Amino acid sequence: MDEKKIILSGIQPTGVFTLGNYIGAIKNWGKMQEDYECAYFIADLHSLTVYQEPAKLRKQTMDCFALLLACGIDPEKSLIFVQSTVNTHAQLSWILSNVTQFGELGRMTQFKDKSEKHPDNINAGLFTYPVLMAADILLYQADMVPVGADQKQHLEFTRNIAERFNSRYGQTFKIPEPYIAEAGARVMSLQDPLKKMSKSDENANGFISILDDENVIINKFKRAVTDSEREIVFREGKDGINNLLTIYSVLTGKTIHEAELEFEGKGYGDFKLAVGQVVADSLKPIRDDFARLSKEKTYLEELIAKGAETAYKVSNRTLSKAKRKVGLI
Ligand code: TRP
Repeated sequence: MDEKKIILSGIQPTGVFTLGNYIGAIKNWGKMQEDYECAYFIADLHSLTVYQEPAKLRKQTMDCFALLLACGIDPEKSLIFVQSTVNTHAQLSWILSNVTQFGELGRMTQFKDKSEKHPDNINAGLFTYPVLMAADILLYQADMVPVGADQKQHLEFTRNIAERFNSRYGQTFKIPEPYIAEAGARVMSLQDPLKKMSKSDENANGFISILDDENVIINKFKRAVTDSEREIVFREGKDGINNLLTIYSVLTGKTIHEAELEFEGKGYGDFKLAVGQVVADSLKPIRDDFARLSKEKTYLEELIAKGAETAYKVSNRTLSKAKRKVGLI
């Protein structure tokens, strides 16, 4: 039992979850619970690096927790918690910041991008964001961290910091590996299939929110951009069709080839409707569960408290060790 590998991942509670987040990440989080020891958390401390309306952040954090449960993260199988309820993260982050160089943080692409986006709020938290992320990961001695392409550099940074700390102070942290999701898990915008599906798309027709209702979903798929041909096949250059086939295949469990055969000779209109229907049907149980769970405030609070307790126990082992190694009493 104890030989199961440890998987850890975090998600910020701000902004809507899209079909892309679901297919690309959260759906797999659920599946991984069977084969690994999993820890999933809501990175609310990281969200503070961009100004958040306090009441809204609190609500989004509760909703995000309910949504993870609705997506199949099972608190009996996985450790699920809210980052700010476990004080070891900020503590280890401080220790790690002393083995981090100014220059390496300045080279982080996310820091550069976000500084450009929010030139009036280039705060120290934004700068040290990757150090807190390294603490998140190293505290749990994670073997693997599923992250999207945008977080790869932060994971590489985490590995560097861990190696540096270990070589200076002796073996303390496991060096985590990135976990590469299965191929085909990248969902593109419905309006511009060359771009990744994103909640910050100006065109709301480009993305599906995990909580969109059936009509909205079907309508967005009806409007999905395809091409001027008539063949439903996965082929280079047919980005719109490729995206729809991918979504269909991931959600039905059929191969791309099976999907191609199923739609052979059919029109794009029928195909788009069929994909929309599969998406609506797949998301319905999540939407229903979310509606139910988000009303059960006491239950959610209990789970959050339980998660905090367990996460503290697990992470404090690593924190105590790190404190001892650097000479804190
Ligand atoms: N920075 C990640 C994101 O925005 C969220 C995150 C915080 C995370 N800590 C983490 C992901 C630790 C994986 C592991 O997507």
